[in-house]
Parts: sequence; structure tokens; C-alpha cells
Amino acid sequence: MSQGVGETIDSLLREGRVFHPPKELVETSNVKAFMDRHGIGSYEELLERARDIEWFWSEMVKEVGIEWFEEPKKVLEWNPPYVKWFVGAKYNIVHDAVDKQARIRKNKVAYIWEGEPGEVRKITYGELYNEVNRLANVLKALGVGRGDRVTIWLPMVPELPIAMLACAKIGAIHSVVFSGFSERALLDRIQDSRAKLLITADGFYRNGKVIELKSRADKVLGEAPSIENVIVLERIGLDGIDMKRGRDYWWHEIIKGHSRHCDTEVMDANDLLFILYTSGTTGKPKGVMHAHGGYAVGTAATLKFIFDLKEDDIWWCSADIGWITGHSYIVYGPLILGVTQVMYEGAPLYPEPDRWWSIIERYGVTVFYTAPTAIRMFMRLGEKWPARHDLSTLRLLGTVGEPINPEAWVWYYKYIGGERCPIMDTWWQTETGMQMISPLPITPLKPGSATKPFPGIEADVYDPNGNSLYKKNVGGYLVIKKPWPAMLRGLWNAEEKYIKTYWSMFEGIYFTGDAARVDEDGYFWIQGRLDDVLKVSGHRIGNSEVESALVSHPAVSEAAVVGKPHEIKGEAIVAFIVLRSGYEPSEGLKQELREHVAREIGKIARPDEIYFVTDLPKTRSGKIMRRVCRAVLLGMDPGDVSTLANPEAVDVIRGAVGR
Ligand code: WTA
Repeated sequence: MSQGVGETIDSLLREGRVFHPPKELVETSNVKAFMDRHGIGSYEELLERARDIEWFWSEMVKEVGIEWFEEPKKVLEWNPPYVKWFVGAKYNIVHDAVDKQARIRKNKVAYIWEGEPGEVRKITYGELYNEVNRLANVLKALGVGRGDRVTIWLPMVPELPIAMLACAKIGAIHSVVFSGFSERALLDRIQDSRAKLLITADGFYRNGKVIELKSRADKVLGEAPSIENVIVLERIGLDGIDMKRGRDYWWHEIIKGHSRHCDTEVMDANDLLFILYTSGTTGKPKGVMHAHGGYAVGTAATLKFIFDLKEDDIWWCSADIGWITGHSYIVYGPLILGVTQVMYEGAPLYPEPDRWWSIIERYGVTVFYTAPTAIRMFMRLGEKWPARHDLSTLRLLGTVGEPINPEAWVWYYKYIGGERCPIMDTWWQTETGMQMISPLPITPLKPGSATKPFPGIEADVYDPNGNSLYKKNVGGYLVIKKPWPAMLRGLWNAEEKYIKTYWSMFEGIYFTGDAARVDEDGYFWIQGRLDDVLKVSGHRIGNSEVESALVSHPAVSEAAVVGKPHEIKGEAIVAFIVLRSGYEPSEGLKQELREHVAREIGKIARPDEIYFVTDLPKTRSGKIMRRVCRAVLLGMDPGDVSTLANPEAVDVIRGAVGR
């Protein structure tokens, strides 16, 4: 970055750090219109009124135009930690996301899709309806029905939302697996959910290369007896795809002759819509469950108020649908609002680092949502890349996934948003399903703070004894005190884990796993995970998940995985490894172990640094003390090590990292 620019950023950062949204944006915003209709005069009053959550969320049902098949009898039933929203309502999210849209916005474009090689497809709501229905009929014909699980391992192509919606339409539960994960990770998720059917593709494009999917799925399907059929999308036209007779079908062949009409299954609003696996503190990812009704209301309402989407907006969320951000804000939320969105298949720097900015210019994107890690990467590449493009259609920006450092915030504000576009720094989780702490277009912004809870969300920060640290500016446990509509409905097949992970820290209060502080103005500053979960480029990876992958290699006896701050990725993965006897440390072995993790989990989990050590610090009960490894790695005080079974291991770690 040139010095001049650095100076401007410094001075922007010194300006009291409060950025006020443009008056016109405030005046024309969806949230302001809502406030005017309800005689609400200020942001504070809105938050206050919304503390009556039953009132607020009933209003949101109207606000986003939810059409129940049968009206709810009750807004909320809360028996911590179990919640039911819109109790008694008959519903299917596909009705609002697709069926209704095909009726009222038939010729409006739902997705403008761009493949990495450059091809463009525009899919209207009418076409989306037809394709969803044809696939839904195929699923039915293959014997998939209500409550059955379908695993979807697809890249960022329109068929991914189509597949999800087709499942939901017939009441099946989808489980999407990120296309960047390995086939082992796919297998784990199929086995855990006992999915009946797999939908995948021959492959996809990433950085100009073809990444195969079907051939890799075949390597593990032998261990997945629950899978009865596989539907394969021909994305690339790869030769030699092995299609197992009676099990595997090409998407384009099997849909032939299937009707463009399919009745939408009438579900209970609290029936499950999907499972999405996410990393926790154990080696095994947990299946977060979401339900039709509340999730529809929560995702659409946040999108409408936070990102202010209106009929003529062009929305682009650059996330992958394999993560919750894509589920909520590329598939369900935007479709329920009937917006036009951009969807891009490939890598951000392909073929040049201005691909994203060129997309924004060519399609006239008005609201753009991305991750801090991407912004930091672009910041390092320099503002000359966005400067080549006219980004003046943008009116609002957003980030998600990890804390955004003020420098990256200001860069994003200045070089992408042209100092016009407020940045919605949205804090939320796979478990919350929807944005929870975030500015609205009317909120004065402080770079680096996710500002305040969304109306109807009661967030707080507690000390270990459950006392509130609200407005005390002291770090503590970030908690949510009242249920919210898109709240997770549990963990698939892991009820005890659900209670233990989220509800046992404080009675009847949801514990997020994050640390945060709330400043004197009531602004939340998220400080990061308190549990052993890493955030690498915004992706959640459990330390123990990487450790289990490492110890599954014959050379590895024990492993401790910790995070280390990284300029672009946020966190880098560092592994300390004790080898089995007979194995010698070498560069070659390091490389092999990195590749092994990539094969086991996916490239995103590949350790950045590996240290071979002869011992790892452990408690007397044999638990490996990652905390101590990390402290030594970062040159911090490891604290009291006298309780360790092997205090001398601390010096072993010191020696390895040269501290
Ligand atoms: C982190 C992503 C700071 C946090 C939607 C959370 C954030 C975890 C923010 C969830 C933000 C997400 N500021 N930290 N704006 N957004 N996080 O499940 O640690 O992939 O607990 O969901 O990401 O990650 P997940």
C-alpha cells in the first residue's frame, strides 16, 4: 500500500471512529419505513419495543410476506433449551422462496450466475420453479420422502440451490457438504445423517483447474450403504465418469419427462429443513438442525432490515453455499424477498485480481456481502484492482465470519464503498441461522464493532458467574438470553452434546462460544472463540478435527493443533507432532502430513506450520494442553505449568519454536 493511502486510513481511523450513515439511505431504508408505520421515533426505541419478541417477530412475518398454509396458534413455545416458533402453523419454506415468487415475479431474474471460465446463465423465478419441481419429482420417483436425508456435494452452480429447494419441497432434509471438503469429510457426513441419496457433479472449476467430485465420491461410497442413489450433474463434461448401473443417474437424463409441477409438501412450521455440519470442539463435526418456519422469518427479516433489500437491488453474497452464510443469504433469505442476485462459481483472483470488481461493475451489484479475510487479501493486492472498475452502483456493504480489523474496515469503506456505503459487520453463527448482532442502515458505525443486537435479539456478555458485563467494556462470555426464530433446533443425533455445548454454561441461556465486550455505548466488540475452534479464512475448523486427521496417519503418535494470528487468513493452523518410533522428522514428512490433512478434511484445514517434538505438555489425566503450546508459540507466558504431568515438555515446545 502506498504511503499516502496509509496516511489517509490513519486519519480516517482517528476521526473519532464513528461513521454516520448517509441521510438519504436512512430516510429511504426499510427499517425506517417500519419504524414510521409503528410510530417508533429512534433506533433505541425500536430496540426497546422489539424486546416484546412475540410482537416483533409476528410483525416480521408480515414484513417479509410469509404465507402460512395454516396460521400459527401461538408465536412461541419456549422450554429451554427447546423452542417452537409459530406453533401449529402449516408451512413449507419453498412456498415463499419459489412457488409464490413464480406467481408474482415469474420473469424476474432470481440468479445471475457466472461460471469461472466466464459463461453466464440467468435464471428467472419462473425457471427456478420449473427446475425445482422437475428435480423434486425425480427425488420422489427415487423413493425420497418426508424426513429422509439427502446429501448434496455440489459446487457453486445454480443446481445447488435447485437441489436444496427440491429436497425442501418434498419435505426431505438436505445436508450440504462444502465442495472444498474431502471425500472423507463427505463420507463422515453421509454416515452420520444416514442419507439416502447423494447429489453431486462430475467436477467444477477453481483457479482454472478442474476439481473432480464424482470420481472422488466413488472412492468412499462403498462405505456408505445408506446411499441408494446418486444424481450426477454434468458441470464440466468430464470423460470416463463411472456410473454405477441402477444407482447413479445423470441429472439431465433422469429429469427428462418429469413434470414442471409438483405439489409442495405441507409441513409443520417446526419440521426440519436441513442439517449443516459444523466444527466443534471434538474431532467429529456436529449436525446443526434448522426448521422451516422460524428460519424463513429470521433470514428474510434480517436481510430486509440489515441489507435493506428492495425490489430493484442486485444482491451479491460471495460466500459458498456449503456454509451457513450461503444457505441463509444466497438461498433462502434472498429468494423469500424475491431479489435478483449474483452467484459466482470460481476463485476471487481468477484470472486476475479484479474478477470480483468486474462482476460488481458488469451486473450493477448494489449490495455486497463478503468476509474480512477476502478484504484483507484484496487490501494487500492494492487498490489499483478495484480502481479499474466502476463500483458506483454499490450502496451498502457487509462482512461476516470473523472480527474485521479497523484497517481492513476502512479500506473496504474507502476503496470498495467509495466512502458512501455503510458496512454491516454482521455477527452470527451456523447455530443462530441468521444475523444476530449487526448494524442497521440507521446505525452509527464504529469500525471493528458489530454494533448492536438486531431488534428482538437479546445479547449480553457475562462473567463466569453469570453476571452481566453490559456496558462495562470488560471481556466475557457472549450469550443470547431469549430465543430467536432461526435458532438451531438441536444437533442431529447428539442431544446431550446440544445441551452441554450451548446450554450448560448458564442455565437457560444460549452460550455462543465467543468472547466479547460491550462498550459504554452498548456496542458489541467480538473478541473471538473461547472454545477450541479455529477460524481460518472465516471457516470454522476444530483443533481436534485437525488433530484426529493427523493421528490417523501412521507416522503420528500425538498431535496438538493451535491457531496463530495470520495477516490475511485471520488464523493460521500450527501443529505440534510427536512421531511414532521408526519415523524420522523431515521436510518430506511435513509435506506428506499436510497433504494427509487435506485428504482427510479438505485443503482449508491443511496446517501452515508443523513442528516435530518429542513430547507434548499434558495434564495428569493425560489431556494435551494446547493452551500451553500456543502460549509458547506466541512468546506469551504459558501460565502455571506446575500442574502438568510433564512440565519439562514446555521446554521441548520452546526448543521447537525457537523461543
Ligand atoms: C465468528 C458464520 C466477529 C464467531 C456466519 C462465531 C464473527 C463464528 C463474526 C461462527 C463477526 C462470525 N465478527 N466474529 N461479524 N461473524 N464470527 O458458524 O466466532 O461459520 O462464533 O458462522 O464466526 O462461525 P460460523
